[in-house]
This record gives sequence, structure tokens and C-alpha cells, in this order.
Amino acid sequence: MGTTWKGFATVTVMLLCFLLVYYIQSNMTFHKISPFSTFGQKTLLQRRRPPPFKSLTFSSWDQSTCLKPRQKFVFIKTHKTGSMTSVNIFQRYTIHHNLTTLVAKAGGYISWPFPPAETDYVHIPGERYDVLFNHMVYNKTWLWSKFPANTAYISLIREPLGHLKSCMRFYSLPQLLRITSTNPIKTFLRDPWRYKNLSEAYFRFCNVTWDGTRNHLAFDMGYPTEGAEDMEAAERYIKGLEYDFTLVLLLEHLDESFVLLRRLMCWEMQDVLYDSVPKNVGNYSYKSYTPTPRELANLRRWKAVDYLLYDTFNRSLWRKIAAQGPNFYQELYYYRELKRNVSFYCNGEQKRKPNRTLTVEATKWSPQFVVDAEYCRIMQTTAWNLTEEIRQKASRKEEGRWLIIRPVLNLRSIIKGQPTLTNTGLNR
Ligand SMILES: *[C@@H]1O[C@H](CO)[C@@H](O)[C@H](O)[C@H]1NC(C)=O
Ligand SMILES: *[C@@H]1O[C@H](CO)[C@@H](O)[C@H](O)[C@H]1NC(C)=O
Ligand SMILES: *[C@@H]1O[C@H](CO)[C@@H](O)[C@H](O)[C@H]1NC(C)=O
Ligand SMILES: *[C@@H]1O[C@H](CO)[C@@H](O)[C@H](O)[C@H]1NC(C)=O
Ligand SMILES: *[C@@H]1O[C@H](CO)[C@@H](O)[C@H](O)[C@H]1NC(C)=O
Ligand SMILES: *[C@@H]1O[C@H](CO)[C@@H](O)[C@H](O)[C@H]1NC(C)=O
Ligand SMILES: *[C@@H]1O[C@H](CO)[C@@H](O)[C@H](O)[C@H]1NC(C)=O
Ligand SMILES: *[C@@H]1O[C@H](CO)[C@@H](O)[C@H](O)[C@H]1NC(C)=O
Ligand SMILES: *[C@@H]1O[C@H](CO)[C@@H](O)[C@H](O)[C@H]1NC(C)=O
Repeated sequence: MGTTWKGFATVTVMLLCFLLVYYIQSNMTFHKISPFSTFGQKTLLQRRRPPPFKSLTFSSWDQSTCLKPRQKFVFIKTHKTGSMTSVNIFQRYTIHHNLTTLVAKAGGYISWPFPPAETDYVHIPGERYDVLFNHMVYNKTWLWSKFPANTAYISLIREPLGHLKSCMRFYSLPQLLRITSTNPIKTFLRDPWRYKNLSEAYFRFCNVTWDGTRNHLAFDMGYPTEGAEDMEAAERYIKGLEYDFTLVLLLEHLDESFVLLRRLMCWEMQDVLYDSVPKNVGNYSYKSYTPTPRELANLRRWKAVDYLLYDTFNRSLWRKIAAQGPNFYQELYYYRELKRNVSFYCNGEQKRKPNRTLTVEATKWSPQFVVDAEYCRIMQTTAWNLTEEIRQKASRKEEGRWLIIRPVLNLRSIIKGQPTLTNTGLNR
């Protein structure tokens, strides 16, 4: 009898200790401060900022843990990462749930490569915004001042070699670097440092240097070009990002990323489907070039910050997936099949018989829902046009003079030795 009681008491005490440690730990997370925080510790504590996002990653997913979908998010749209597909998902969510968007006055840029300004976006009465999905350089000081503390931060990155190829092509970098060979990737990777004087593009109007061959991903995430060699600062900064971001999607694992996103955000299956027909995909001679091990080693050294960023979030993605438990893969399998079915319907039958709808039966992953012409239309509309629709809802005025000059156009100016500019209508 006595031993039973002793055993019971020990178990109780252990349980209490466990709860206490758990309590302290969860409170510690509450005050955890990102090492690269732009706020002083004191400011942060005064603001009593709750954790950016109460993550569900460390317990297996279960529909019942989803009390309420998360409807506040900032999607940092990076360049040349195939972000059209993801942006469509975020825009659709915004439209279906009537969320308030912090949207650029014109075009798809809030700012770039300069810090955001009050003149750059459509102000709504009350200044309370739910979502953002335009291009901007991630700036947490600014974003925290515009979005409530429970906002989820999301982005998308891709493997750095594919990114370099895409940038070479899109920004006409061979012209900037004065490389005339048919395989500019190979030429460049022989000795990237040799081109440093040319690859660093200087935007005079805002005193910002950007290098499209180097850490462009990290740049979009707020890490300056000048920090390319400072790996200690890069590590600190990326640790901070890992803490700030709910999820960074990977282009190479988009389906896994979206299934995980839906779980972390408590969204529904229909919110994260996308059209399987690829869009905006370029084809060019060096796209399939596989660099030699030596060239790859050069790239890893040259783009060290982007590699650190990618490797960190690649590990982070798989860690979060592992924590979901095995039914994650069942859901992934279901998601892929459903995505095929919906794409097939939207690209075929729906076009022939516009009034016919597709009913997706309820499963353990999703309640029943109906795919109709409007669903297909929004899913197949480009980011540009949907931004236009969303902007029109927020403001009636066309403010074309605030159209921010796209980086590709400014780069063309640099190549031609012409001045770089901010807006089409005026300069700040
Ligand atoms: C959408 O939001 C606006 C303002 O945020 C509100 O006036 C309107 O009633 C909402 N519409 C629907 C369908 O919820
Ligand atoms: C970030 O935004 C804040 C607030 O608008 C601004 O003061 C700061 O200069 C910005 N930082 C960078 C690196 O642009
Ligand atoms: C790069 O530019 C600087 C100043 O314009 C010059 O001094 C330097 O020699 C250049 N380096 C190379 C490798 O061309
Ligand atoms: C431009 O920015 C650099 C740091 O990035 C700074 O050292 C320099 O003083 C700035 N120049 C001007 C003219 O503001
Ligand atoms: C892409 O380009 C390569 C080489 O230029 C060519 O062989 C291939 O057929 C192209 N693919 C498509 C789908 O156009
Ligand atoms: C991402 O991580 C996975 C799992 O560790 C690994 O197999 C894969 O090679 C990584 N991807 C890249 C592009 O590094
Ligand atoms: C996809 O369509 C096929 C054929 O209509 C159907 O048998 C299957 O159940 C559908 N799967 C999903 C996930 O909707
Ligand atoms: C489709 O539905 C609309 C309204 O519900 C109707 O006016 C139209 O005639 C229908 N079209 C076809 C081809 O059935
Ligand atoms: C989408 O935008 C383009 C301009 O980029 C325009 O020509 C086209 O008509 C728009 N499509 C729709 C359906 O509004």
C-alpha cells in the first residue's frame, strides 16, 4: 500500500515539474528575441509582442487543433522563384475571405530595393490590414508597425543554382557582365569574383547596391548585398528569419510546402490547390546546364548567404514535415490527386460546358466543396490581373504615377549607362 502511494506521489511530482518546465518554456518563447532584431530588447518587451505565430509544428496535426483559420499573413514575394503560383493562392484566399490588403498604388511593388514609404500603397480608413503579397524587401520594423502581432510571415525561395540561371536570363545579366559566350553560367562560374565590379548594380537614386548573381534571395529577405562575406552576420540574420517566418515554401517541394502551409494556417484544401498547367516558364539554352563540381564549389562560395538561407529553410521544412506524423503523406497523396482532377476540370470540361460544376466529396482532409467557373477563373488569372481586381476594390483612383520602376527596367538602364529611377511619374 505504502509503495503504491509513494509511486503515485512521485509520478504526481514529476508531472507537476514537467508542467512547470513546459510553462516556463512556453513563456520563454514569448519573450524570445530574434538576434537580428532592429528593436532594442527593451522596446520589444514594452511592446509585449506575442510570438509571431503559435506554431502547431511540434504536435501531430489533427483537424481538431484548428479552431480558426489564420487570416492575417504577409507573403514576401521573392524574385525569379516561380512565385506566380503561390501568389495566386494568397490572392484567392484574400478574395474568398474578403480580407483587407495592403496593396501597392500601382503595379506589383510596395517598394524595391528601397525601404517602404507611406506614399507607396493604398491607404484604407482605419489603416488595419490583413494581408500583403506584393514585392518588397522584407523589413520587419516596418511590417510590425503595419500588421498585428499574430500575422503569419511566409515566403518562397528556390535552390540557388536554378535561381542564378533564371536571373541570368531574366535580367540580361550576361550583357551586364559583358559575357558573350553561349553558356554564360559556365563562363561566370569559372571565376565569379572577376565580375564583381560589373555584377554589383548600383541604384543611385536610393543608394542601394544589388547583385543579381549573388545573394538575391537573401536581399529580398532584407539582408544587404554588402554582407556577402560576413557569414557571422548572415547566420544571425537567417536565424532571425527562421524565428520570424511561419513557413518558407520551397519551389522544389511546392506540394509538400502547400500541404504544410494549409495545416499551419488551418486553411482548407480548396484554398491551396493550384493549376497544374505551368505558367510563365522560360526556356533557354543554358537552363539544363549542370556545372562541374569546381564551378558548383565556386557558386557555393559566391552565393554563400543564399545557400545558407536555402539549406536552413530546407532543413526547417523537412523538420516541420517530420513533426506532422505519417498522415502528412496520405494527405499529400490526396492533395496531388485532387489538384490533378481540378486542373483537368478547369482546363477541359469547364471550358466546354461552363455551367457544369465539379463537386469534391468530403474526406478526412476536407469538407465537401464545389469547383465552379468562378473558382477556375480566379485560379487561372495572373497575379497581375488579380492585384488589379483587389486594388480596384480598395481604391477607385488609378494612381499610375506611383508605379514603381521594375528592377528589370532599372537594370536595363544600368546596362545602357542611364540613370536609375523610382517611379514613372516622379522621383522622391
Ligand atoms: C467585405 O469587407 C468590407 C470591408 O472590409 C465590408 O464592407 C463588406 O461587407 C465585406 N463583404 C463581405 C461579402 O463580407
Ligand atoms: C526598415 O523600415 C524602417 C521603418 O520604416 C526604416 O527606418 C528602416 O530604415 C528600414 N530598414 C531598411 C534596411 O531599409
Ligand atoms: C573595380 O573597380 C574599382 C574602382 O572602380 C577599380 O579600382 C578596380 O581595379 C576594379 N577591379 C577590377 C578587378 O576590375
Ligand atoms: C550609401 O550607403 C552606404 C552604406 O550602404 C553609406 O556608407 C553611404 O554613406 C551612403 N551614401 C550616401 C550618399 O548616402
Ligand atoms: C528548350 O530549349 C532546348 C534547348 O534550347 C530545346 O532542346 C528544347 O526542346 C526546348 N524545350 C521546349 C519545351 O521548348
Ligand atoms: C533538401 O533537403 C533534403 C533532405 O535533407 C535533401 O535530400 C535535398 O538534397 C535538399 N535539397 C537541396 C536542393 O539541397
Ligand atoms: C479524381 O477523379 C477520379 C476520376 O473521376 C476519381 O475516381 C477520384 O476519386 C478523384 N480524386 C480526388 C482526390 O478527387
Ligand atoms: C448557364 O447558366 C446561366 C445562369 O444560371 C444561364 O443564363 C445560361 O443559359 C446557362 N448556359 C448554359 C449553356 O446552360
Ligand atoms: C489582364 O491584364 C492584361 C494586361 O497585362 C490585359 O491585357 C488583360 O485584358 C487582362 N485580363 C483580364 C481578364 O482582365
